[in-house]
Amino acid sequence: MSHTQSRSLIHRIPHTRWLSTSFARFERHMLNLRKAKSLSQIAKEWDAIAALRDDQIASGKDHSANVVLAPAILARLKTCKSLVDIGCGTGWLTARAEEHTSLAVGVDPSNESISLARLRHPGRSIKYVAESVETFSRRRAKFECAISNMAASCAPDLQGFLVASRRILKRGAPFLLTIPHPCFWPLYWGYASHPRFKYQRTFAVEGEFKIRREATAYLTTHFHHPLELYVSSLGTAGFSVESLEELAGREFDYPRFLLVAAKAK
Ligand SMILES: C[S@@+](CC[C@H](N)C(=O)[O-])C[C@H]1O[C@@H](n2cnc3c(N)ncnc32)[C@H](O)[C@@H]1O
Repeated sequence: MSHTQSRSLIHRIPHTRWLSTSFARFERHMLNLRKAKSLSQIAKEWDAIAALRDDQIASGKDHSANVVLAPAILARLKTCKSLVDIGCGTGWLTARAEEHTSLAVGVDPSNESISLARLRHPGRSIKYVAESVETFSRRRAKFECAISNMAASCAPDLQGFLVASRRILKRGAPFLLTIPHPCFWPLYWGYASHPRFKYQRTFAVEGEFKIRREATAYLTTHFHHPLELYVSSLGTAGFSVESLEELAGREFDYPRFLLVAAKAK
């Protein structure tokens, strides 16, 4: 059947049937777009996959974490007296950042990730706290700089996450965060053509976690937000955006990640 014939056939299929077959395609790949998801559900998902994630990074299987994301953050990190890694997961990046600071604190609501961080990535000047940044910010500790790798996009409340991040930073402190590139990640992850996807809206995207060299059966969730929302939310939370860097991965023609260099106003 030619391309033109198949297209005209699609137009003759009743709309509802076409939609249900399209949804089925995404269900087969375990990709589900939801309106929201709670922080405790998110933390449980990261609990379940914590050991595997740490192995993927330690073994070098996770190329993006080791070769794209961590070097981009660390290259911009200036020496500071105190640093907080917001959404630190198993602490591998907190440990790599330790040499830039006299005190490093990793914060994450996933208990399992924090237990692994204490076990596998300890350091003389590192502390780990099993709390969301929102809860941690009530302690009123203030840091000279912050890093956050791929965590803002996993927080169910983006604005709450950023406001809390600002609260734990001194005025003028740099905040280096990476996020999935909102324009291209939906293509990479495979939901850009999902019947419910709209770039301008926020979605909780549930799917089986994958890295380039390994698919897994673990369900994790990230949130899609349009780029404009990230930038406006940073502004509302009290940050100025100093620069954006588009980061490429391997075997994907578009930038997969964004590094945002912000500053606490
Ligand atoms: C994609 S993982 C990244 C973990 C780690 N930064 C890394 O590079 O391996 C996202 C992390 O964000 C954490 N997270 C989600 N919401 C959070 C919040 N409100 N405060 C702090 N961390 C949060 C999750 O528990 C999860 O560990």
